[in-house]
Amino acid sequence: MKSRLRLTGSAVIFGGVGAWGLLLISCVAVNRTLVAPPSIPGATLVGNKGCVECHEDTIAHFGGAAHDRIAVANAKLGDTSCESCHGPGSIHVKAGGAKGSIVNPGKSPEACLQCHVDKRGEFALPHSHQVMSGKMSCSDCHDPHLGKATKGRGASLESENETCTKCHSTQEGPFVFKHNAMKEGCTACHSPHGSVNAKMLVARDANLCLRCHLQTTDKNGVILVGGEDHRTRLQSGTCWVAGCHEAVHGSHVSKPLRY
Ligand code: HEC
Ligand code: HEC
Ligand code: HEC
Ligand code: HEC
Ligand code: HEC
Ligand code: HEC
Ligand code: HEC
Repeated sequence: MKSRLRLTGSAVIFGGVGAWGLLLISCVAVNRTLVAPPSIPGATLVGNKGCVECHEDTIAHFGGAAHDRIAVANAKLGDTSCESCHGPGSIHVKAGGAKGSIVNPGKSPEACLQCHVDKRGEFALPHSHQVMSGKMSCSDCHDPHLGKATKGRGASLESENETCTKCHSTQEGPFVFKHNAMKEGCTACHSPHGSVNAKMLVARDANLCLRCHLQTTDKNGVILVGGEDHRTRLQSGTCWVAGCHEAVHGSHVSKPLRY
């Protein structure tokens, strides 16, 4: 199988799938994951410091980023995380950043899946974002250079939601009656990569809602939700069928989230 990584020029030769693997050595002392970088004939490692001069912005935000923890083993240079994905940079630096002198993994999912092998399966699930077909890319939601690598960045779930609502504005509102579950983030109910359940839901039935809303079940089988016995209601289907709580994201007309 040919490597599907998009390369920028003939000077860069990528050794094909597998050349860029996680080595099974975890450097315990600094808690880094060591990788074998893509190869660039004739080029040697220069270290992150070698990139600062010209890519100050990227470097400035990189400290503490998830991907700052991957590194190419090199005792002399220490931090060489940039080159673990971009390959050794000496030729690129000398050439003042000339085209084709360094690897740009691009937007192909293969660039990420080489290391995140497990994610391939998630995108193969029956209900998933169209990443493998090339209609979307990992970088629509992730920035490899930033923080947790989830766009909108940081730990704030609200900003994680922005990653989703730039494409799904309908779910953003504003609604007259908000469903406060939205504060927990879209991922409280949706698997962002893919799921076996329709609409990429984390659960297919009432359990999706009962995780947060179940008040009690007693010996008589009373299922108390929102202060009301829901036994017969739950038999009639999921919570978000028409006539019940179909406005799961928020409603303009009804507090119990209908319409
Ligand atoms: C002397 C300045 C300079 C240094 C040092 C430098 N770069 Fe660059 N780099 C550039 C320029 C100029 C470009 C082209 C920018 C553009 O096309 O917008 C570039 C482009 C790139 C690209 C995109 C390549 C492409 O074909 O799309 C990557 C990736 C990159 N640099 C990584 C690095 C890394 C990693 C380092 C450190 C090992 C580094 N650079 C050091 C100047 C430099
Ligand atoms: C986990 C792998 C990974 C690491 C580590 C990494 N990059 Fe990148 N880099 C990428 C990918 C993937 C792209 C292409 C992004 C795209 O096209 O959306 C990219 C693109 C770039 C570009 C091209 C312009 C741009 O932003 O799209 C530059 C410049 C760059 N990286 C510099 C750096 C520097 C400097 C470092 C270290 C501070 C670094 N990268 C670390 C994966 C990485
Ligand atoms: C060279 C291997 C490598 C490549 C290539 C790579 N990653 Fe990673 N990525 C890692 C490792 C290792 C970690 C775990 C870092 C840690 O220990 O926190 C990670 C962490 C992450 C995280 C989790 C951050 C968190 O804190 O939960 C995301 C999201 C991520 N990567 C997305 C991507 C995307 C998207 C791409 C492609 C643009 C990519 N990665 C390319 C090795 C890689
Ligand atoms: C539709 C947006 C979206 C796309 C596309 C996407 N991701 Fe994610 N990804 C997320 C979100 C959101 C999270 C955080 C999940 C959470 O907090 O529960 C995440 C989490 C992750 C994580 C860290 C947690 C974990 O599950 O291990 C990795 C690694 C990751 N993604 C890799 C990838 C790769 C690789 C691709 C492309 C093949 C990709 N993602 C495409 C939205 C996306
Ligand atoms: C770059 C645009 C984009 C981003 C960002 C994005 N999506 Fe999507 N999403 C789409 C497209 C396009 C579809 C329709 C896919 C299809 O019909 O095959 C979709 C479909 C969905 C669906 C419906 C799936 C189904 O089976 O009907 C859900 C749920 C969803 N996305 C949730 C999310 C969440 C949660 C996030 C943020 C983590 C997110 N999306 C980020 C473009 C995006
Ligand atoms: C409380 C749980 C919950 C939360 C939180 C949630 N969703 Fe949903 N979402 C659902 C359910 C349930 C459905 C299925 C509704 C249906 O089939 O009628 C759905 C459906 C969708 C659909 C498909 C719409 C369609 O017409 O097919 C998209 C897109 C979507 N959600 C995006 C998002 C985004 C973006 C966020 C975050 C801003 C989000 N959701 C947060 C429960 C939730
Ligand atoms: C992540 C937790 C969470 C999940 C999952 C969740 N909710 Fe909620 N929901 C809340 C919170 C928080 C509130 C506001 C406090 C309250 O009334 O309990 C709320 C309120 C409600 C309300 C009352 C609205 C109001 O303004 O009085 C309804 C109806 C509701 N949710 C239905 C659902 C349905 C249907 C589902 C499944 C699709 C669901 N919820 C899933 C957290 C959640």
